[in-house]
Amino acid sequence: MKTDEIRWNDRYRNTRYPSTVNDVIKSYYHLANPGQALDIAAGNGRNALFLAENGFQIDAVDVSGVAIDLIQGQNPAINCFQVDLDSYIPKPEGYDLIININFLDRNLFPHIKKALKKDGILIFKTFLDSHLQSQNQQDIRKDHYLKSNELLLAFIGLQIVLYKEEDVVALNGQKRESASLVARKRNLTK
Ligand SMILES: C[S@@+](CC[C@H](N)C(=O)[O-])C[C@H]1O[C@@H](n2cnc3c(N)ncnc32)[C@H](O)[C@@H]1O
Repeated sequence: MKTDEIRWNDRYRNTRYPSTVNDVIKSYYHLANPGQALDIAAGNGRNALFLAENGFQIDAVDVSGVAIDLIQGQNPAINCFQVDLDSYIPKPEGYDLIININFLDRNLFPHIKKALKKDGILIFKTFLDSHLQSQNQQDIRKDHYLKSNELLLAFIGLQIVLYKEEDVVALNGQKRESASLVARKRNLTK
């Protein structure tokens, strides 16, 4: 969506986002065969860079040209693509590892499953909607937040390695809840 691109370009110009790899990636990436990885909504590339340094070839996709410029040239194992994930279909059976951190587009769920190779690993972590219930935040896109157990149910056809919901501190310093899922594709029909 063009508005996503403008909004996120503006954010990357004005906000310093974390540059260290997300904890769940660091703890579980080793479950995947070190081959092809896909970083969905890669942002400044912190997670893609970690995977590149640990033996993966990564396709890093994001709508923000400013974010893509931050990633470009960091490591030759990272291929960057400026794409709108509203209309993006990843390559079927193309990836040993797919990561999706702090981003939610439910339309991608079936495509993520198809894009995993057999024994491919999915690592998905993003925010729950629990903080919205107690606040009157009209401007917040509620569809950007998960319901409790939604992520688990969406990928229940995979072999679940980890599912947890926990308190985290968001970039703005406020307390949030997030859901983390790590799962393996055992069977190509799923
Ligand atoms: C909170 S950041 C997370 C970045 C990264 N995954 C990380 O963990 O550092 C969300 C990302 O989603 C991207 N994004 C938002 N809407 C998008 C869309 N429609 N298509 C592709 N990327 C999008 C933004 O540009 C931004 O980089």
